[in-house]
Amino acid sequence: MPRIISPSVLSADFGHLADDIAMLDRSEAEWVHIDVMDGVFVPNISFGFPLMPPIRKGTKKVLDTHLMIVNPEKYIERFAKAGADIVTIHLEATDDLHGAIATIKKAGVKAGVSIKPKTPVSAIVPYLNELDLVLIMSVEPGFGGQAFIPASLEKIAQLRALADELGTETIIEVDGGISSHNAHEVFGAGADVLVAGNAVFGAEDPQAEIVKMLNA
Ligand code: DX5
Ligand code: ZN
Repeated sequence: MPRIISPSVLSADFGHLADDIAMLDRSEAEWVHIDVMDGVFVPNISFGFPLMPPIRKGTKKVLDTHLMIVNPEKYIERFAKAGADIVTIHLEATDDLHGAIATIKKAGVKAGVSIKPKTPVSAIVPYLNELDLVLIMSVEPGFGGQAFIPASLEKIAQLRALADELGTETIIEVDGGISSHNAHEVFGAGADVLVAGNAVFGAEDPQAEIVKMLNA
């Protein structure tokens, strides 16, 4: 699968959100990453439904929604209706992951599950057949701008090997502390999609940073 960059709106300038979404729409990024935090699953609150329509209105790119919330099953349908193309929930956030994945599929969008840095890749194996995407967190979820955890590279390689062995077409996405400085290593370990917040929106030329990451 060709490399994809998914810039995280969490690092955008919310005072000029429409401009930032328009910039992403013109960029080489194929996806737009939307980080929803509830202050319970993670120690931070970001934003929720009200931001979906303006983002959806501003771009036709794939809306890659990352729900860092407890009981995600309650809200999946609303995010799908609000324009999400992919809904990713956390393995650690629900007692019925099979049920939650089924709810995502029933909503007619692609299903992803994310694992936190301390959750082993083995925990995702029973769900691989049902999933379109696995999101490996390379920082503790909750905040942008943290440093990439190097042990994530081994987890990416492990998951790539497992997916190849099982013959599943799992998209591997990696999120946290990624920039053009380490994109080469992360893609090299077996990632398909890289999320980047700070690296893109903190760059003098965000579009150039996206291209640099793609060509890393
Ligand atoms: C963290 C979020 C990430 C974050 C990435 O909980 O899931 O998507 O925005 O930001 P950077 O790229 O700045 O680490
Ligand atoms: Zn994220």
